[in-house]
Amino acid sequence: MLKDQDRIFTNLYGMHDRSLAGAKKRGHWDGTAAILKKGRDWIVEEAKSSGLRGRGGAGFPTGLKWSFMPKESDGRPAYLVINADESEPGTCKDREIMRHDPHTLIEGALIASFAMGAHAAYIYIRGEFIREREALQAAIDECYDAGLLGKNAAKSGWDFDLYLAHGAGAYICGEETAMLESLEGKKGMPRMKPPFPAGAGLYGCPTTVNNVESIAVIPTIMRRGGSWFSSMGRPNNAGTKLFGISGHVVNPCVVEEEMSIPLRELLEKHCGGVRGGWDNLKAVIPGGSSVPLLPRDVADECIMDFDWLREQRSGLGTAAVIVMDESTDIIKAIWRLSKFYKHESCGQCTPCREGTGWMMRVMDRLVTGDAEIEEIDMLLDVTKQVEGHTICALGDAAAWPIQGLVRHFREEIEDRIKYKKTGRVSAVAAE
Ligand code: NAI
Ligand code: SF4
Repeated sequence: MLKDQDRIFTNLYGMHDRSLAGAKKRGHWDGTAAILKKGRDWIVEEAKSSGLRGRGGAGFPTGLKWSFMPKESDGRPAYLVINADESEPGTCKDREIMRHDPHTLIEGALIASFAMGAHAAYIYIRGEFIREREALQAAIDECYDAGLLGKNAAKSGWDFDLYLAHGAGAYICGEETAMLESLEGKKGMPRMKPPFPAGAGLYGCPTTVNNVESIAVIPTIMRRGGSWFSSMGRPNNAGTKLFGISGHVVNPCVVEEEMSIPLRELLEKHCGGVRGGWDNLKAVIPGGSSVPLLPRDVADECIMDFDWLREQRSGLGTAAVIVMDESTDIIKAIWRLSKFYKHESCGQCTPCREGTGWMMRVMDRLVTGDAEIEEIDMLLDVTKQVEGHTICALGDAAAWPIQGLVRHFREEIEDRIKYKKTGRVSAVAAE
């Protein structure tokens, strides 16, 4: 269980002074120049030793990603792009950072950019985040006025500019290369990888794309040390983590906890537990809509980290925990996600463009029970045709929730089809 003194985002808990003065009182912007004086290599090594894995969903080691950036300039500028296009259904953790703790994000942007040789960084913020953009822009303006950004930022000797770019509401622009296209003023469509952004990113220049939370934890890691951060959680699953809990709990919330906390403890300690009690839990999506759901019996044992959830063929993803109690029409819940992915597909690759439509149309029939039993396997087959055969991860994200549904709730799907045909209720429906 996380101790209060180990919380990074202290301003999320009741103290809402997000101004520069308030941030400084909480220890932000304290000795930033001294951190930069330790040098690029020291910062990258500290990030590596912290064990920090990317908080945007994929969990790629942050320090390792930074180390892919060229050490010596070949004449091209380097960039940091901060992914604030938080759009994964169920996910609202970065929003909290931008609303309440914008200064830790800005300070992190300076430290990370220096470590990668970047004199400029862009924060690409989700179109719907109007208030968050205002809060961030106000904080950026304060920093320029106080000499923390711009020439000789924070008296570090490093010139650094930070720009805020506002998206226009497309989910796919959260995919890192679609985001780069959008920043360049083009249609937000993912690029083929490789090359990864470190080789050819924004305007063809070396670029690192990091999530808001990944950058916002950096100043504290640099002050307290990588070993402090890695002492929390389990090996390979280090640190503190923001969890966003929604759905059928008594008090939905965003909370910072130690990585690897058991799911049940997380819900009972911070959310008042599952509505109607733990036994009323039907299923949980542990990491935002892109990862497969887990049924109650797996949730009983669930450890909230990358590796444990991967072993269960699910994932930590964005750590957006969507709780569904026994009243949930689980087929309809996953159908709604299918509709979302079909709508958000950018359409440039055939398996995703056509497959998301196919999957949604079969899901339409499964919801009402107007399908044949054989269509369940046909649907699974379509998900396999899409998974791993697309340019970006949206194809996988559309396939996995359906695979999870069939894996854990096949009986319920079959039951609905049989009921529609015969009018008879089987054991599952009668429960
Ligand atoms: P990915 O695994 O392809 O890449 C993760 C990061 O590691 C990227 O920055 C990539 O450039 C880098 N990387 C991976 N392999 C590399 C290599 N060999 N060399 C250099 N760099 C490498 O995953 P992706 O597509 O970036 O993210 C998918 C995840 O995003 C999903 O798991 C989902 O949970 C999450 N997601 C989050 C959303 C949000 O609102 N936060 C929205 C939608 C999805
Ligand atoms: Fe576009 Fe889907 Fe292909 Fe991604 S997988 S590039 S969203 S069509």
